Amino acid sequence: MNNPISILGFAGSLRKDSYNKALLRAALELLPKGSRLEIFDLEGIPPFNQDLEANMPPIVKEFKAKIRAADAILIATPEYNYSIPGVLKNAIDWASRPHGDNVFEGKPVAVMSASIGMLGGARAQYHLRQSFVYLNMYPVNRPEVIVTFAPQKFDEKGKFTDEIGRKLIRELLENLIKWTLKLKKD
Ligand SMILES: Cc1cc2nc3c(=O)[nH]c(=O)nc-3n(C[C@H](O)[C@H](O)[C@H](O)COP(=O)(O)O)c2cc1C
Repeated sequence: MNNPISILGFAGSLRKDSYNKALLRAALELLPKGSRLEIFDLEGIPPFNQDLEANMPPIVKEFKAKIRAADAILIATPEYNYSIPGVLKNAIDWASRPHGDNVFEGKPVAVMSASIGMLGGARAQYHLRQSFVYLNMYPVNRPEVIVTFAPQKFDEKGKFTDEIGRKLIRELLENLIKWTLKLKKD
């Protein structure tokens, strides 16, 4: 067997009981054979300051190194005020800098979102996809994993229990891996 496809996952929420963090844990359970997933917590990443680009904080260096080493990226994000949370945008901004050292360059990426509302964070996903254009990332388009009315779909231990949703996460991961292998061939 070749080297497994390595995926780095992070959530756009710092909340301990975050539904989006729980989606990443579900992804860990649903990982296809031949892949591995490491989850990085964005807690502790300071606000972006361009003055620090030449000597980035250690946690940002660590985040960038993990992205660089990963074959693919998986992001689970809430929607805040119809967009992505500042915490997520901030982390992405750090990892895209300094100019010429955007570690997301050319990486395949898959997105999931969960929200307590009826649109499941869909609007945040499209804002995030807009950033992928400038970052030059390659997003998986299907399936769209959009978890609506989240409180009904996780049990008291934070396990994602929605059967259709779990099937979609599995399919998303399979597509991310296929996509990654295709891009690696070039
Ligand atoms: C600052 C803020 C803004 C929010 N804006 C939205 C929104 O625009 N759309 C939405 O569906 N939910 C919104 N919510 C509710 C989130 O869906 C909910 O808090 C969700 O649990 C956050 O994800 P998490 O569980 O991963 O932390 C907002 C929550 C916060 C704290």
